[in-house]
Amino acid sequence: MARLDFPKDFVWGTATASYQIEGAVREDGRGPSIWDTFSHTPGKVYNNDNGDVACDSYHRYEEDIALLRQLGVNAYRFSIAWPRIFPQGTGEVNPKGLDYYRRVIDKLLEAGIEPCVTLYHWDLPQALQDRGGWNNRETIDAFVRYAETVFKAFDGRVKMWITFNELWCVSFLSNYLGVHAPGNTDLQLAVNVAHHGLVAHGLAVRRFRELGIRGQIGITHNLSWTEPYTTKPEDLEAARRLRAWNNEWFMEPVLKGTYPQFLVDWFRSAQGVEVPIQPGDMETIAQPIDFIGINFYTGNYGRYKKGEGLFHCEEVQVGFEKTFMDWNVYPEALYKVLSWVKEEYGGIPIYITENGACYEDELTPDKKVHDAKRIEYYRKHFIQCHRAIESGVPLKGYFAWSLLDNFEWAEGYRKRFGLCYTDYETLARYPKDSYSFYRKVIADGGLDV
Ligand code: FCB
Repeated sequence: MARLDFPKDFVWGTATASYQIEGAVREDGRGPSIWDTFSHTPGKVYNNDNGDVACDSYHRYEEDIALLRQLGVNAYRFSIAWPRIFPQGTGEVNPKGLDYYRRVIDKLLEAGIEPCVTLYHWDLPQALQDRGGWNNRETIDAFVRYAETVFKAFDGRVKMWITFNELWCVSFLSNYLGVHAPGNTDLQLAVNVAHHGLVAHGLAVRRFRELGIRGQIGITHNLSWTEPYTTKPEDLEAARRLRAWNNEWFMEPVLKGTYPQFLVDWFRSAQGVEVPIQPGDMETIAQPIDFIGINFYTGNYGRYKKGEGLFHCEEVQVGFEKTFMDWNVYPEALYKVLSWVKEEYGGIPIYITENGACYEDELTPDKKVHDAKRIEYYRKHFIQCHRAIESGVPLKGYFAWSLLDNFEWAEGYRKRFGLCYTDYETLARYPKDSYSFYRKVIADGGLDV
């Protein structure tokens, strides 16, 4: 048996997102978001579930914070719903929206838990979507106005800020693959959305510095790993394209001020798609940030196959265990991603802002959930985190996804990622075995393996 100790100042947290947990979608002046529209459109979400009630955290946040306190985390990542602050996206601030997050932040601080705020976790005000959403550069200005309003409101109390969660999902998953709101299937549109999101990120960071807001600011990308199945050049290139689409397309602009040129060329020649770069955009996007957030869930093996997807790359099944999302359990890929970030982008501090697993949980009559597979998933990923730290990767913290089962976007409520089980009939929360496991890891500052 070996003992894996994490650094004393390592940040242990959990993560959630506004639309996935809050409910109360019509309360206190909140305006509709694209996720209200999407989830109320029949056929878009499994079982036609929606976030109207979700986990009702809007009313039960004190209970959630009590769960966090018992878990022993020192940080909690949550997102602010833009349509609570500006119900129409722009215009007048809704003070009741700010009040809600003020209450949450105060309670967290009282409990000794650092709030980590994500500004955009996908709930774009519908009014902005009606004018083109992220395809329209006016949305960028609206975002900066929203960001600065929130920065000023919580300056000094929130020390860790994330501009965007997963621009790959915001752009390609939502506007090219059509799986998430607003559900478009247009590659040029998706590339525009990604670019405008990046510009909005850069402008918000610039504003953060100009205002002298205290604390750190960064962005969260969902990175994954496609390992080439063979060393044949065509397989190497196919895997590289897929990786670059997931990773470099978002990492390079933010951290180097460029797009990966080979992919720009590929988009242009294979798809007739251009990146809508305006003068000054790349400098704006590359504003220095304090950390990079990584959401990591899975990886795969890929090889060349003509006509397969955008990049002629097909996944090869090599016998990985799968979660209930059908995602491969591939913990070494986390190590590969972390090492790659260090190699490619130097010493930028890294936080894993999401990692976790979905399994079919069963609540026993005495309200327990024996989620041994989830524990195994976490254990294996902690081992890789530790391995990365040992090899010199500046990994500063880890946020488990998620504190509680919640509205899993297009999958509705059937896909559970929580450390706590949510009973959607009663809205009671029941800590699972994985919660106790994580609590012990945090309390011990590490684990025996
Ligand atoms: C990520 C999202 C998060 C959650 C997990 C499972 O892509 O950021 O909201 O749904 O996946």
